Amino acid sequence: MILVTGGAGFIGSNFVLDWLAGAGEPVVNLDKLTYAGNLGSLASLARDARHVFVRGDIGDAELVAALLREHRPRAIVNFAAESHVDRSIHGPAAFIETNVVATFNLLDATRAWWSALPEAERAAFRFLHVSTDEVYGSLAPDAAGFCETTPYAPNSPYSASKAASDHLVRAYRHTYGLPTLTTNCSNNYGPRQFPEKLIPLMIVNALAGRPLPVYGDGRNVRDWLYVGDHCAALRAVLAGGRPGETYNIGGNAEMTNLDVVRELTTVLADERPGRDYAALVTFVADRPGHDRRYAIDATKIRGELGWTPAETFASGLIRTVRWYLANGEWLASVATKEYQKWIDLQYAAA
Ligand code: NAD
Ligand code: DAU
Repeated sequence: MILVTGGAGFIGSNFVLDWLAGAGEPVVNLDKLTYAGNLGSLASLARDARHVFVRGDIGDAELVAALLREHRPRAIVNFAAESHVDRSIHGPAAFIETNVVATFNLLDATRAWWSALPEAERAAFRFLHVSTDEVYGSLAPDAAGFCETTPYAPNSPYSASKAASDHLVRAYRHTYGLPTLTTNCSNNYGPRQFPEKLIPLMIVNALAGRPLPVYGDGRNVRDWLYVGDHCAALRAVLAGGRPGETYNIGGNAEMTNLDVVRELTTVLADERPGRDYAALVTFVADRPGHDRRYAIDATKIRGELGWTPAETFASGLIRTVRWYLANGEWLASVATKEYQKWIDLQYAAA
């Protein structure tokens, strides 16, 4: 079996669902259920004995050690993190606590357990750390995309905390020989993403007739990847990645935020006609320290592991909009008081 952390979040839940639909190997899913964790995303697994959910913190070394002893996973896939840049600007401490300190505890408990395994199990074990392209900082308009040797230059408390975790993972490989793999992926979108991130926030606001808040001039560029393609890349890295290596993952789909929002309003107009969604676009104050451009050079994972994305941005966006339109209950379940408090705080001046 494998141990997945953060498997009730956006990418983690998609990974667990895809994994069990495909390979069928059992999963222990360790998640703290912060505001971003949602068991509703895993409702279809309620009667599936291959999925064992454990509510807990990756920073709880005793709990992690007990789970490792009990389940003897052949791999850990670490998604658990605080993941929203804007929240890291309002409250960075939680990002240091989870992404740095708790990730260290997870790594160290794993090292202690792994080092006592029989040699064949030690050699076969993998610790896959899921990270972000934001660790590389911001690109000039005409610069080549980030590759695995691009120097780290994180600019937000979120990306700095992820960079710190990547360095710890690297150190555990170099010092102790732990068979680690690190992936640095671009912006994901798709079903089950919490509506604080650009695309689901815009869908929720558009359906309610509220403004679509575009930061600054809307010309910041991101490289968008459908979440199912990210999950396929992670399976490929787990199966064939070389221990100690890092792999960049991206959709080769660079777009300005304004173009993303405009395309979304066009899809919404087709799928749920009746409102002038484009008229809701509103420019608001910029994010402090807002990175201008991210782009990924995915040559390494394509060449070594044969992975390429299956979805284009256009096809993935239609699938995403249809999922949100068909899953009103899921959306209602995340529209909590805490969510409203966040929206009020972040968009008060908008
Ligand atoms: P998310 O915020 O949707 O989910 C994070 C999950 O981790 C939640 O279920 C939460 O309850 C859980 N969690 C948080 N702290 C925990 C702790 N201390 N112990 C156990 N569980 C904890 O995040 P996401 O967008 O699914 O991102 C998952 C991972 O992928 C993160 O590490 C993120 O940095 C990385 N990543 C995200 C993107 C993206 O576009 N969303 C792109 C590249 C990399
Ligand atoms: O690049 C990978 C990263 O992508 C991940 O590591 C992060 O976990 C994930 O949150 C994402 O970070 P971004 O900051 O790029 O994503 P977000 O959806 O918050 O914003 C995307 C772009 O849209 C960014 O340039 C900011 C802008 N934006 C965002 C929001 C929420 C707006 O213009 N308006 C908004 O209301």
